Amino acid sequence: MRAIYLTGFMGSGKTTIAEKLSFELTVPTIDTDDHIEEVTGKAIPDIFASEGEEAFRKYESQSLESIPNKNIIISTGGGIILKEQNREFMKKHGIVIYLHCDPEEILKRLEGDSSRPLLKGDNRKAKIESIFSERLSLYREAHFEIDTTNRSVSEIAEEIQDII
Ligand code: S3P
Repeated sequence: MRAIYLTGFMGSGKTTIAEKLSFELTVPTIDTDDHIEEVTGKAIPDIFASEGEEAFRKYESQSLESIPNKNIIISTGGGIILKEQNREFMKKHGIVIYLHCDPEEILKRLEGDSSRPLLKGDNRKAKIESIFSERLSLYREAHFEIDTTNRSVSEIAEEIQDII
């Protein structure tokens, strides 16, 4: 089986869906953020704070390229699609599935969350909307798009299994 790359905005459910698929298809799952934390020995917010976003993006590309791309479900960080090299890598080596979620729903899901450096500070709604609209066309370069808004994990996992 070719790798399945799950892409989408923060809070779109990539990790949860990856875990469900991993269980059902009996293949391992890996999260690029977890991989970066393991390799660097630092938490994501610490990398952003001490080295900056650009350094984080470099770790992200390195992580993507070093993770195996057979028989695996890969849940990616929400900004993985920002680099063209990453978008091309994923499309070449696997099946890219964009998990779409409406920004209003994302806002609700991420209420009280303090683990995302890009959403720190005031006016989270405006931040989500602006990052979302900057990225939407890049997410849509995926092979497939699935709407996750108001849908259960089982329904989404089933739809993905029908596709692959
Ligand atoms: C980011 C998403 C995060 C994490 C980092 C940056 C982004 O991952 O990689 O905070 O740029 O959208 P999740 O999508 O798993 O929250």
